Amino acid sequence: MTVVTPQIDVHLGQDDLERELRADVLAGLRSTPKRLPPKWFYDDRGSELFDEITRLPEYYLTRREREILYSEAATLARLTDADTLVELGSGTSEKTLLILDALHGRGSLNRYVPFDVSEATLRCAAQRIAERYPGVAVHAVVGDFSRHLELLPIGGRRIVAFLGSTIGNLYPKERARFLQSLRETMTPNDRLLLGTDLMKDRQRLEAAYNDAAGVTAAFNLNILSVMNQALDANFDPQGFEHVARLDTANDWIEMMLRSREKQTVRLKALEVTATFEDGEEMRTEISTKFRASLAKEELATAGFEIERWWTDSHDDFALSVSRPRSVGSS
Ligand code: SAH
Ligand code: TRP
Repeated sequence: MTVVTPQIDVHLGQDDLERELRADVLAGLRSTPKRLPPKWFYDDRGSELFDEITRLPEYYLTRREREILYSEAATLARLTDADTLVELGSGTSEKTLLILDALHGRGSLNRYVPFDVSEATLRCAAQRIAERYPGVAVHAVVGDFSRHLELLPIGGRRIVAFLGSTIGNLYPKERARFLQSLRETMTPNDRLLLGTDLMKDRQRLEAAYNDAAGVTAAFNLNILSVMNQALDANFDPQGFEHVARLDTANDWIEMMLRSREKQTVRLKALEVTATFEDGEEMRTEISTKFRASLAKEELATAGFEIERWWTDSHDDFALSVSRPRSVGSS
């Protein structure tokens, strides 16, 4: 049997990552309130914890999105007749199999391009998929979807998938910039497949980000270990508490790390110390909960025209298919 090896392009080497981490952490610790950018959650341990999150009873997002894919993948394949699936923030590419199967079943698929900042997770997923679909070229790209979209392979009929409501982890301005840049890389044959989590009651939302088993807390606190390792810092994960709450003014869940006492942390590689007051909160991530009108408006503003808007049987999650609006039409 021939062993198929995926092609892997690395646009983010260890040096780039370290340089960016330093700049991000320095800026984040100096701002008021302090914040840390979420890209740094996904070291090997973080990626494993995230995978565990997707299976938690409280974390409905993955199951709902999979439900939609399960019922609509065949329609998606027919609608797009795509030969290439590009996936941004692909992670373990688990739900992706439903799309790949549908395209492969139609006989139109010849390329899968997973794109992620986490090299180890990406390599693993790329290998698995290359083995599962021997006739399909797997071309993995290690990069940052906020900076490297123009490095994605173009040509053919592409679906660009951005699942898991990862778009909701961007701030409104970043989201607008992201959608606009993505639109600029797309041709009339391409389609955007976008997963967005929808607004719902506070209790369910807060439970989804504060599970009883404490996995999300471990995921959030893991960013401190990332900094300890990469920046020779001495954060004590026991000194911080995971907090997740719905901010109704902004329609997002915000995840914070709250200092359990007044403490000073030294980050040797940055030659700085940071002081945290007792109860001081540092924001690590937001997860936007979309109203359908907002998602539709943002897509339209970025130059997309929505062709399909699918929700699961509970109206918890939405998956949309959009085409780039041709220049000149409104
Ligand atoms: N698509 C999967 C994983 C979602 S988790 C799902 O739906 O379950 C978000 C993924 O995006 C992680 O794999 C993480 O490594 C990746 N990611 C986060 N920030 C990124 C960035 N700036 N550029 C590229 N990938 C990023
Ligand atoms: N985008 C997903 C969400 O917002 C996954 C995710 C990203 C997540 N960061 C997270 C889930 C932190 C839990 C905690 O739900």
